[in-house]
Amino acid sequence: MSDVAKNPSVADVQMQANYEKLANVIDLYSGKQGCLIQVLHAAQEIFGYLPFEVQKYVADNMGFSVSYVSSVSSFYSFFSTTPRTKHDVKVCLGTACYVRGGKLLIEKLQEILGIGVGEATADNVFSIHVTRCVGACGLAPVVVVDDDVYKQVKPGDIAGILDQYRGE
Ligand code: FES
Repeated sequence: MSDVAKNPSVADVQMQANYEKLANVIDLYSGKQGCLIQVLHAAQEIFGYLPFEVQKYVADNMGFSVSYVSSVSSFYSFFSTTPRTKHDVKVCLGTACYVRGGKLLIEKLQEILGIGVGEATADNVFSIHVTRCVGACGLAPVVVVDDDVYKQVKPGDIAGILDQYRGE
């Protein structure tokens, strides 16, 4: 037996416990129609987010394909496939925001933070996400940082918005 197997780390034990909790949730919902979203919600509460391994576990144990579970995980903005950062920066790419320059806002965020969509900065302070319509289309394009909604944002506003959250 290897040292790792004989002496599992605290993180290994915690991860094992998390998968056991998830297995119980899946048992609870087994055989019920339309329960994937509830299971993914529970998985996100347990693990903090939905990494690929967790999506695969859910898919394998619920009889779905991994691609189906991944598509559901990425479709709904309340699911995160990356670890939670201190501040989640979401750019709306609903139709109104897209037409009025939402994509340029994403490019500016990527340039300033040096990360792509769905990625987190090395210090785990910021992550970039795309969201669908947040109901402020009349004042598009919109950026949401945590629960703060910024309207009619221009690429030149991005640095100033981020500065408000740095060093908090
Ligand atoms: S499309 Fe962005 S707020 Fe509606």
